[in-house]
Amino acid sequence: MVSHAVLALIEQGHQVIVLDNLVYGHREIVENLANVKLIIGDIGDKTLVRQIFKDNQIDAVMHFSAYAYVGESVNKPAKYYQNNVVATVNLLDCMIAANIKTFIFSSTCATYGIPESVPITEDMPQEPINPYGATKLMVERVLADYDVAYGLKSVIFRYFNAAGADPQGRAGENHDPETHLIPLVLEAAAGTRKDISIFGTDYPTEDGTCIRDYIHVSDLADAHLLGLDYLLAGNESNQFNLGNAKGISVKDIITTAEKVTRKSIPVCEEERRAGDPPALVGSADKAQTILGWKPKYPDAESMISHAWNWMQGCASR
Ligand SMILES: NC(=O)c1ccc[n+]([C@@H]2O[C@H](COP(=O)([O-])OP(=O)(O)OC[C@H]3O[C@@H](n4cnc5c(N)ncnc54)[C@H](O)[C@@H]3O)[C@@H](O)[C@H]2O)c1
Repeated sequence: MVSHAVLALIEQGHQVIVLDNLVYGHREIVENLANVKLIIGDIGDKTLVRQIFKDNQIDAVMHFSAYAYVGESVNKPAKYYQNNVVATVNLLDCMIAANIKTFIFSSTCATYGIPESVPITEDMPQEPINPYGATKLMVERVLADYDVAYGLKSVIFRYFNAAGADPQGRAGENHDPETHLIPLVLEAAAGTRKDISIFGTDYPTEDGTCIRDYIHVSDLADAHLLGLDYLLAGNESNQFNLGNAKGISVKDIITTAEKVTRKSIPVCEEERRAGDPPALVGSADKAQTILGWKPKYPDAESMISHAWNWMQGCASR
């Protein structure tokens, strides 16, 4: 997400400083862009962050860095609380000390846990079922308290499933290990993965597989620009779901990927995974009404074809 937001910001004429410790990031996408300075370091390093805030005129901070593997968070919660909560609080404290009061935060639909109904609206209960979701919810609570006490204004974006790639092929998904469905399905299409596992075919959904709400990374990036304008215009802190309000099943994704890639994708049907809700779909009404956000690529076909083009480009580089 970082690279997509950076591309959107510089297209809008902003100057951007990226702070990334490169534990999962890739320097090549952002390091040669005009108006972008890449600083390699940790957001939990208060000395470094204070210095960056002292040396530069900063209007706002967009905070993407986190560990985001749900399964790992269950086995190694300390790693997640340390990086996602403690390091974030360090960052916020440096902001307050430097009098920077505008903050955009990447939260997640995982803060809702297993919803009673879909589509999920922002006022529904947030009861995460794993430490990853809990860390994001804790930061949301910190932000509410920092607003009251220190006047820190924030926009919290609860992303549903980020997908796709830059339509111009400048950036795309590259996780190691990869756990996201679309790149895994495309690896199976490309033959670099034997098959794609479907975890559970007996859910109470139309085709028995889990339903998720996929949202194109460029649309997420656009929302960040709107969130920034919203706060810089003096508005109050707010929270928004970023999804397409459209449920797409695992089988739908595979079928669409077969159509886009014109390859047949081998499937392996497996047991359900613990903790996978049958359906997660977010209402995007609030972001559309208040921010004027309108996703440009709401269909799975665009997301999958942009991701496929990105993957093909990587393979030929
Ligand atoms: N991808 C999704 O579907 C999704 C869904 C919901 C929420 N999110 C959230 O959006 C954000 C971005 O997700 P992503 O998929 O692009 O993840 P990502 O892992 O690609 O990006 C996170 C970046 O943060 C960096 N980082 C991690 N800890 C750091 C630290 N302490 N200091 C400096 N840099 C650090 C990593 O090197 C990486 O470049 C995350 O906060 C994630 O929790 C993502």
